[in-house]
Amino acid sequence: MPAPDDEEPTVTPYAVRGDIDYETLLDQFGADRLTDEQIASFPDPVHPLVRRKIFYAERDMSPFLAAANAGEPHSIVTGRGPSGPMHIGHVFPFYFAKHLQDQTNTLVYIPFSDDEKYFLKDSSIAEISDHTRENLRDLLAIGFDPKRTRIIVDTADADVIYPLAAAFAKEITQSTVDATYGEPENIGLSFYPAVQAAHLLLPQLVAGRHPTLVPIAVDQDPHVRVCRDIAAKQRYPVDKPGALLSKFLPSLLGPGKMSSSDNAPSILLTDNRETVFEKIRTHAYSGGQSSIDAHRKFGGNPEIDISYQFLYYFFEESDERMERLAREYRDGSLLSGKLKEIAAEQITDFLDAHQKRRAKLGPVEDELAKYRLTDHERRQARRRAGYPDDSFAQL
Ligand code: TRP
Repeated sequence: MPAPDDEEPTVTPYAVRGDIDYETLLDQFGADRLTDEQIASFPDPVHPLVRRKIFYAERDMSPFLAAANAGEPHSIVTGRGPSGPMHIGHVFPFYFAKHLQDQTNTLVYIPFSDDEKYFLKDSSIAEISDHTRENLRDLLAIGFDPKRTRIIVDTADADVIYPLAAAFAKEITQSTVDATYGEPENIGLSFYPAVQAAHLLLPQLVAGRHPTLVPIAVDQDPHVRVCRDIAAKQRYPVDKPGALLSKFLPSLLGPGKMSSSDNAPSILLTDNRETVFEKIRTHAYSGGQSSIDAHRKFGGNPEIDISYQFLYYFFEESDERMERLAREYRDGSLLSGKLKEIAAEQITDFLDAHQKRRAKLGPVEDELAKYRLTDHERRQARRRAGYPDDSFAQL
């Protein structure tokens, strides 16, 4: 729902409204700004999302980096709420996770919260199920290493998720949920934080205590906080997961306006070349002047130009090229139309490669099979969550 201008900005996992002030949010949430030293301690080459501070804040990330750099076990959990088709803003954390996995063999866990999105949205169970299937194809197209990656779907992996969530639900009071998320609309949403806590602790419950990092958009931080409180009680053999928090990809309509399924048009992972060019040409907010003469004379502003911002966020890796584009845009030699063309071209290149890998996949069920938890892993997780070997959960 677009917010009226006078509305208080809201950022929770269940609602993002109004103009977002990323700095104020950190004070509100109690997370820390990412420092240059931390950025430098990422394995080389540092992913542009980190280098450029799109991932701009963190919680307790050092143990993860230390383990990654020392070749010790470490994991990432980053999930997907299958509420609709995926757009380009949704894939950053996953491509980031893939980058780290290639560098340091990171274990990557990808939970799908189909239950959460059913509780939250007006879609039917069948519709959410279709989105899950389509989104899974997009995740599978990224090409994670099946040996070091697990994909979990809440309703399909209920044999492990439910026992864990039941254990953690007891640690969360209703007043914590109300204070953290706002009063939930139904009891599904009241319970769901226990499910996401199960996601975030799953790698440690499967594989033993080790540092986990959750790279995710900043609106998901409340889930991390609730989970960290559970871990802090030390009733389970897990450490608190750390978080790496990102800004939202701005929507085509302009900076400060985040992409969301219910307002601006966004660029979907399935869009073809023509559609990408058309969306950028007609919708991408421009930081240029209103006439070519004025632009040549006064130059444009890359800070508010969405084509520039898309390139900066994700689609152009070279810092040198970004600096050149910024310079030429500011001095007026690079026109807005040309900048749009460059952005559309780069996004199309990325999408072409993604779509080619997607098209090569076999049936989702077969592809997914390589990434599902093994029976042994399921048993381990339940055991570490306190279910004895002869409990019914372990049958
Ligand atoms: N709640 C997330 C969303 O709405 C999806 C999600 C589920 C997730 N489990 C997760 C994200 C674990 C990060 C880590 O987008």
